[in-house]
Amino acid sequence: MDSKAVARWCDARREAHATGGGRWIEIGDPYRPSAAERDAIAGHCTRFNLALYRFARGGSDPDALSAFARVMGLERRDPTLGADRRGVATVRVARNPHESEMIPFTSRALNWHTDGYYNTLERSVRGVVMHCASPAESGGENILLDPDLVFAAMQEQDPVLVEALAHPCAMTIPAYEAGGTVVRPARHGPVFRFFDDPPGLHMRYTMRTRSIRWRSTPDTARAVAALEATIASLAAHHVHVRFEANEGVICNNVLHRRSAFVDGEDEGSHRVVLRIRSFDPVSTR
Ligand SMILES: [Fe+2]
Repeated sequence: MDSKAVARWCDARREAHATGGGRWIEIGDPYRPSAAERDAIAGHCTRFNLALYRFARGGSDPDALSAFARVMGLERRDPTLGADRRGVATVRVARNPHESEMIPFTSRALNWHTDGYYNTLERSVRGVVMHCASPAESGGENILLDPDLVFAAMQEQDPVLVEALAHPCAMTIPAYEAGGTVVRPARHGPVFRFFDDPPGLHMRYTMRTRSIRWRSTPDTARAVAALEATIASLAAHHVHVRFEANEGVICNNVLHRRSAFVDGEDEGSHRVVLRIRSFDPVSTR
């Protein structure tokens, strides 16, 4: 996009957020959402890149969630660690020592990130569903933020910052090794990138300081600091939500974080989130 097109895009994205509105969408049957329910999800994702929904039934059934995500366009699933044959991962406090090394599978807080930031560009995660099968006894709040607003704010502040973060080697995730084997090689990539088909901004990011290397230039360092500040400055657009059972978010891989939580003694008060990652964004048809 040329600079005028970028400016128009930024204005349009800010405009879309200018008027809020109730974001919860009730889904009667996740296997067969009605046309009105599908339109509501698509409409919210077009405006905010995310939609909060509540299932009337099928709350913890991975088949129901998978069917719902498919209807909404999330066809091609990212077979991440922990995902089953449908591409549905169960995120909960791990019982086995291998998983328990990874923060998502603990009860600890997770800082701002988008999902799959370590994927190759060809396997960019564009659509995500996070669905609560059961909440923790306490804590486990999510905060969500549309990355388009972050881009627009930074572009307005100084286009050089955005340029630094759009560099193909802006961010490097070092190789992941376990037991002396390279599970995932080192990956480089931009933070911001526009896709043409389907169109949209894609953001790869983690606020983690471990296991991440930024390109060594003064502009990159300035841009990374500005990015953190921009996320904080957009607090009015942070969507705070503590999902109850049967509730979740379907989104175009928006920025999100999670607070720490405490599971109760019985299974019913353990935080269990079903998660789908897809190479497809939410369908807007
Ligand atoms: Fe995540």
